[in-house]
Amino acid sequence: MNSGERRTLAGHTIRVLYNEEVVAERVNAIAEEIASHNYENLLVVAILKGSFIFAADLLRALHKQGVYLEMDIMILSSYGKNLESSGQVQILRDIESTVRDRPVILIDDILESGRTIAFAKDLIVARGAGEVKTCVFLDKPGKRAANVDADFLGFSTPDLFVVGYGMDMAHSFRELPYVGVVET
Ligand code: IMP
Ligand code: MG
Repeated sequence: MNSGERRTLAGHTIRVLYNEEVVAERVNAIAEEIASHNYENLLVVAILKGSFIFAADLLRALHKQGVYLEMDIMILSSYGKNLESSGQVQILRDIESTVRDRPVILIDDILESGRTIAFAKDLIVARGAGEVKTCVFLDKPGKRAANVDADFLGFSTPDLFVVGYGMDMAHSFRELPYVGVVET
């Protein structure tokens, strides 16, 4: 699939924004950047569900860069997705790892309002982590509500609804190997 190409899937038209090659290149570049920090005793936390494919690719790219790490997951759900003002975050599954004095990298799919990653970051900081970094595949800076940024970033994207590469529309389209914009 080339960038700009359109596909009709389950009655929706999806335009390819970042194809597989472009995605793989960015993931490798992020891994190189993380590797250059030489973190010791690194813990990587994937915030699910949206980051599962990005995290899986990034972890293997980090291994190829010679990075040793431990990985854990946290499942968060943000209440009031449609009530943008409330946006409360709930922990559905917490990490099991100890974070005290360790560098921790939080991985998420999209940074939009920032509430999800800000919640996770505050929690890990409060548990005494050495430093907490954020790594997100896509940043939509137009809608930020919380004071948080991506330390490691795939792409900064316009305010469009995207799917694929783990990202969903009502639990559909996570399996697409590219990132697409839902046009209809
Ligand atoms: P926020 O930063 O707390 O607003 O949450 C961002 C979360 O909203 C992401 O982890 C996604 O799960 C979801 N999200 C935001 N924009 C999109 C999109 O365009 N497509 C799919 N999910 C999105
Ligand atoms: Mg998500």
